[in-house]
Amino acid sequence: MEDLKKTGTDRRSFLMGGARSASVLALGPLLASVGAAKAAPMAGGKYDFDTPYNRIGTDCVKWDGAIRDEKMPKIVAGMGIADMDFECVPVVTEALQKRVSHHNWGYELLDIDLLLGNGGNSGFVKGIIDWNRKHYGITNITPANLGVTTGVHSGIMPALRAFAPPGSKVLMATPIYNAFYFDLYGSKLVANESLMKVVNGRYEIDWADFEKRASDPNTKTTILCNPHNPVGRVWSKEELLRYGQICLKHNVKVLSDEIHCDFVGKGQKYTPFATIGDKKVVDNSITFKAASKTFSLAGLKCAWFFATDPEVFKQVQFWNRSEVSTLGIVSSEAAYAGGEAWMTQCVDYIDGNQAFANDYIKKNIPLIKVGNKPEGTYLAWLDVSPLAEKIGAKKLADAENQKKQPNNPLTGKPNVVSSDDMVGHWFAKNAYVQMNPGLSYGLGGLNHMRMNVATSRKTLTAALDSIAAATKKLA
Ligand SMILES: Cc1ncc(COP(=O)(O)O)c(C=O)c1O
Repeated sequence: MEDLKKTGTDRRSFLMGGARSASVLALGPLLASVGAAKAAPMAGGKYDFDTPYNRIGTDCVKWDGAIRDEKMPKIVAGMGIADMDFECVPVVTEALQKRVSHHNWGYELLDIDLLLGNGGNSGFVKGIIDWNRKHYGITNITPANLGVTTGVHSGIMPALRAFAPPGSKVLMATPIYNAFYFDLYGSKLVANESLMKVVNGRYEIDWADFEKRASDPNTKTTILCNPHNPVGRVWSKEELLRYGQICLKHNVKVLSDEIHCDFVGKGQKYTPFATIGDKKVVDNSITFKAASKTFSLAGLKCAWFFATDPEVFKQVQFWNRSEVSTLGIVSSEAAYAGGEAWMTQCVDYIDGNQAFANDYIKKNIPLIKVGNKPEGTYLAWLDVSPLAEKIGAKKLADAENQKKQPNNPLTGKPNVVSSDDMVGHWFAKNAYVQMNPGLSYGLGGLNHMRMNVATSRKTLTAALDSIAAATKKLA
């Protein structure tokens, strides 16, 4: 592997060299192959997900953030934050190029047209409505109940503001997507965590516990993650109905985050909460979605939400202060209009990655345990308790906490280092792979790592080989 210090990893070097030029990039043996790659062609109707697409030097969280935060002298793979390493679907890049040829970046027309259902950007609105009808049978989105935001978080925040008074509890089946905890923190809300159970290798909601928590009069809202980040469940219609009925009975508003909806494995079916068939249950919900996960457009900032009850929609929209991003709208519209074949192939490729990683770990890495192959998402949830034990992660964390820790920018209090943080550092230092520590995903997260497999099979293989080799040295 090359030494990162000797090669330019800054944005300037990257842009001068281009994503597929090896000369300016800090590449390990795996990524050296990037240099030889050609621009991803569509040969025989096939998109290229196999050629590693180098992101180092673009100031991306997944690779550059990992190198910076873990002070990595070399890297095999950034496998943390939930975006994908693939080259973007060409229709999106083409649409963006067309738009950037006009050099004015003033405010984008949208809100009023959404409400009227015509005019500027109606192609974007139509794209959302058509895509959701065609792919998932959602027929109840209209221009009048659709709100646009810069991200799913920026939609969830006004919904919490509308339905969760400060100090109230937000019910969540945990472990769950870590950034929800920041939404709660920022809204002065308290997590009401219902720990899921692992039954025959997959996570399930503990219904008795869930209902007990829903019946707490101070629980006013719940955040549902469908499919579920990080444990990879694709909830069935029956489970969603049960979830929704319990929440309706106890007057708990359902905020359904369905951003991962397209990533479902073979034999699985994503059920939108809005299609579960019970009108009262659906009317008690708001759904949050985006093209940003499906097509990896997270940096362009565009998402949306809808609610079938006009009163519920009105209350969220009242607090919705998101501005719209021109390039976010352009890219989402293009993706929905022309990205279907790319998406289908991408989801299939990811499903192959999930199977490959699950199988590889079971066979080759005894210090990591995995359950069934994840049903959905491009995230794998690894039980690292044997590894944590082996490296004495708890003791390492205790020793770190004796030292002065930097203040957490949100709480203003010193960070507390967890044993999962130490396992994360261990992976970065010994396998040159960065993943997300489990404890940040709340109750039930301890002794886990979240691994993002949305990358080329070559990169995934190199990362797993590197982890296997590093853990073998401990045996
Ligand atoms: C479940 C879930 N919701 C929301 C987000 C973030 O969405 P956005 O970037 O649109 O705020 C993520 C990103 O990883 C996610 O996994």
